[in-house]
Amino acid sequence: MSLEEEVLRLKDERNAVLLAHNYQRAEIQDLADFVGDSLYLSRKARESDRSVIVFAGVRFMAETAKILNPSRTVLLPDLKAGCGLADSITAEQLRAWKGAHPGAVVVAYINTSAEVKAEADYCCTSSNAVKIVEQIPPDREILFLPDMFLGDYVRRRTGRTMHLWVGDCPVHAKLRPEVLARSRAEHPGAPVIAHPECGCASQVLPLVDRVLSTDGMVRFAEETRAPEVLVATEVGILHRMGRLNPTTRFAPIDAGAVCPYMKEISLEDVRDSLRELRYAIEVPVDVAAKARRSLERMVAA
Ligand code: 13P
Ligand code: SF4
Repeated sequence: MSLEEEVLRLKDERNAVLLAHNYQRAEIQDLADFVGDSLYLSRKARESDRSVIVFAGVRFMAETAKILNPSRTVLLPDLKAGCGLADSITAEQLRAWKGAHPGAVVVAYINTSAEVKAEADYCCTSSNAVKIVEQIPPDREILFLPDMFLGDYVRRRTGRTMHLWVGDCPVHAKLRPEVLARSRAEHPGAPVIAHPECGCASQVLPLVDRVLSTDGMVRFAEETRAPEVLVATEVGILHRMGRLNPTTRFAPIDAGAVCPYMKEISLEDVRDSLRELRYAIEVPVDVAAKARRSLERMVAA
């Protein structure tokens, strides 16, 4: 039996659903029940009636799935699949920041630990950050964390006064304006789509055609008739784009934009995860109860 057949058989035996983020390895995306961005996958996890949810993504995504659907067994196939951005703020640091801004509304990006989410009023993803901030009464002070590039982008889009945590994604922060400028010079006329975590997203908005979440980029890819499109995000997404639209050429602005955390998970790990029911993600009940409030606002937006 091939590895692929083994995964499909075990998935059936375990009554499991396999969720894969857009940055996962192609062979995992190809076997997943659902592939998408963090908002789409959070919703899929929340509504799943399967006994087991295998999350081929990173830890904060699996934690979110467990918080939103606590009676399911949620598995992360490799515990090394963390997130450099989520590591940039701890709950203790957030409590100190809140202490310096009493009464401020806290908006936490989904790329945070469960403990940080428990301290937040709202969670958001790249696809609904603007919408979430627009829900907050205009007279309220806002603390936005942890990604400063996404925060700056939301600040410009909404015109709101927001304090930003100085955190960034180690993969996207390297996609700076000069990297984009070089790529544009090499591909004249090609439209540019960028993830808002990019180091170039907010500073060079006039040079970017669309700032989008990973699913937003996939939808753009599906619909475009341009012969070539420049893509400013992690390169794992190119697999889905190429499959959905084989007539357009999707070129990364930097072929080295590879998330080491997302790539920790192999198809063998997914197989072993289903076989051994590992690694089960647990979130302390009190932390989950608090984090659920802000996450429910995120999935509802
Ligand atoms: P999306 O929600 O756009 O998929 O982004 C998640 C992420 O980790 C981007 O680096
Ligand atoms: Fe985290 Fe960046 Fe990897 Fe996304 S690409 S999972 S933000 S380290």
